[in-house]
Amino acid sequence: AEGVFTYDPGFMATSSCQSAITYIDGAKGVLLHRGYPIDQLAKHSNYVELCYLLLNGERPSKEEYQTFERTIRNHTMVHEQLANFYKGFRRDAHPMSILCGVVGGLAAFYHDHLDITREEDRQISAIRLIAKMPTLAAMCYKYNIGQPFNYPRNDMSYAENFLYMMFSNPCEEYQINPVFAKAMDRIFMLHADHEQNASTSTVRLAGSTGANPFACISAGIAALWGPAHGGANEAVLNMLDEIGDDSEENIQRFIDKAKDKDDPFRLMGFGHRVYRNFDPRAKVMKETCDEVLGQLGLADDPQLRIAKRLEEIALEDEYFVKRKLYPNVDFYSGIILKAIGIPTNMFTVIFAMSRTIGWISHWHEMISGDYKIGRPRQLYIGHPQRDYPTE
Ligand code: SDX
Repeated sequence: AEGVFTYDPGFMATSSCQSAITYIDGAKGVLLHRGYPIDQLAKHSNYVELCYLLLNGERPSKEEYQTFERTIRNHTMVHEQLANFYKGFRRDAHPMSILCGVVGGLAAFYHDHLDITREEDRQISAIRLIAKMPTLAAMCYKYNIGQPFNYPRNDMSYAENFLYMMFSNPCEEYQINPVFAKAMDRIFMLHADHEQNASTSTVRLAGSTGANPFACISAGIAALWGPAHGGANEAVLNMLDEIGDDSEENIQRFIDKAKDKDDPFRLMGFGHRVYRNFDPRAKVMKETCDEVLGQLGLADDPQLRIAKRLEEIALEDEYFVKRKLYPNVDFYSGIILKAIGIPTNMFTVIFAMSRTIGWISHWHEMISGDYKIGRPRQLYIGHPQRDYPTE
């Protein structure tokens, strides 16, 4: 676009990149996907359409949408032998460790005959990852709790299918709650992409070496796992449990802990590397939280009460105001996921599933154009040259 700052290829090759996928204005709290504001997309679109938009640059026509959506439905199954990967893990392994390992192994099943120098094969890789991540994610949960895996269903929407594969079992067919399905789809959308965050930058760096897309996504999953990044949604629920009650005195005590440099405690779900204003996703997530818990008769949920009180008090606290620390995408998402019945150790897995479209869209954008191997530079602060003693 006119006036957009562009980098010289040399600069791009070493430390940063240019992209047309997502735009963030941290000062104004703006997030655009291919130019569309996230709050409008969350209200009027759905995750599968957003996948098409992020990957291809424009919203699909009705026919394009139907073909894309049907293709995804028809690729949700995974190779039967992949189930053996799970059996190598301890039952109590964190689902993120399983997902990271299994996705890295997908290349052995789905990449060897693909040629990513061909657009058609790049699209096949992207579709397969979008389609199979919910299946692999639900399998992580089922393995964890010792229940049999569920096969995906082609008569269900993306979000319905995920809930079905998570919660159905041979003794009792899971009845899809439309409130939960809509909330899941919105959570998928709000986590879909976020410019050059740590995990997306990891995927781009891995992809710049020519590594296959499945290995690149596995690298992204590993980066997302950290509590400072994707692991924050699980950490928010643990923090709310630790806070325990919404009395002003108790909440102020935890806010003071978060301000204490000698104390490692931080307000999880607060602050951001880029936003110096409200994370626009947090606003939509808070509305969704109110909607879901209201419809479940849980508007007075203790953790929701604590979260809202914490937000109110922190946003009036000089330390947070001066540092422009606001709730981010992770602050309310965990409360919704818990209300749906999803265990906390699956929260970051859901973030990884949702972010797969962002990761693979950035991979596709880079691989489809002129690119060089990434080579971040460093500021050397070590010894100047010195001779090795010979005596
Ligand atoms: C995600 O990059 C992305 O886009 C990520 C993400 C995505 O969609 O991919 O948006 C997803 O990762 C959201 C962030 C989830 N993480 C958390 O909620 C963990 C809690 N947040 C913090 O750890 C922290 O805010 C970070 C890691 C998110 C950002 O860390 P920074 O860059 O160090 O924060 P900063 O530079 O803005 O900090 C400025 C000051 C520092 O204190 P001073 O040195 O000025 O005294 O604010 C303090 C920080 O110590 N601070 C906090 C705080 N976050 C920053 N103090 C208390 N609680 C916090 N949460």
